Amino acid sequence: MQQHLLASAEIEEYANLVTQQEPDTAAAIADKTRNTLQYTEMLTGKVEGRFLSMLIGLTGAHRVLEVGMFTGYSAYMMARALPEDGEVVTLEMNERYKAIADDCLKDDPHAKKIKVVMGNALETIPKLQGPFDMMFLDADKEHYPEYYELMFPKLKTGGLFVVDNALWYGEVTDPKDRKAEAIDKLNHTIKNDPRVENVLLTVRDGIHLARKTGDDHGTG
Ligand SMILES: C[S@@+](CC[C@H](N)C(=O)[O-])C[C@H]1O[C@@H](n2cnc3c(N)ncnc32)[C@H](O)[C@@H]1O
Repeated sequence: MQQHLLASAEIEEYANLVTQQEPDTAAAIADKTRNTLQYTEMLTGKVEGRFLSMLIGLTGAHRVLEVGMFTGYSAYMMARALPEDGEVVTLEMNERYKAIADDCLKDDPHAKKIKVVMGNALETIPKLQGPFDMMFLDADKEHYPEYYELMFPKLKTGGLFVVDNALWYGEVTDPKDRKAEAIDKLNHTIKNDPRVENVLLTVRDGIHLARKTGDDHGTG
């Protein structure tokens, strides 16, 4: 089933039009994904990719954790905004997707900032060493609440937690399946979490931002 984003096709198209061009490597990832897999819905795409780059620039993040790399589009857009010694640790479990990322990134100078950890993220996250300055959650929706619990202790104070698909094509307003229920649950968990300040943006499919204001240092 083709699911549609929240804004009209015209508005999405206009936002794309007036957002600066995507870098060549990002365009190559999108092309190869389309040609190899025949689907691109999972890509964050140009507008959100630019948004993630901008968040890195605005926050001055050095170290980022991404859960759900797919073919590397968002990992690349974040990596290229990082300083030379910055790092995106990105988690993925599908070798086929990683092969596309590897192929498109092999000659790009920003690729050295991307570290891919393969395996089930629910098992690999606990083994990671924090702190991270920014986190981007974009993996299987059913487990969003569990990911938040696993990831959040590794976010530094003042760090930014970013959740993709937080509106799930509008289905969170009246959840009818496990994915919508899980996303809705996480949205409320974040809102009621005294350790963060939050805002849910109606950009694309909903981007939930939570800034950690508590005083643990993300080494958990
Ligand atoms: C929506 S896609 C990510 C899109 C990506 N951020 C981008 O911009 O192209 C979700 C990805 O999460 C991966 N994934 C789902 N469940 C996972 C798990 N338990 N562990 C690791 N990766 C997982 C899927 O294989 C898929 O590639």
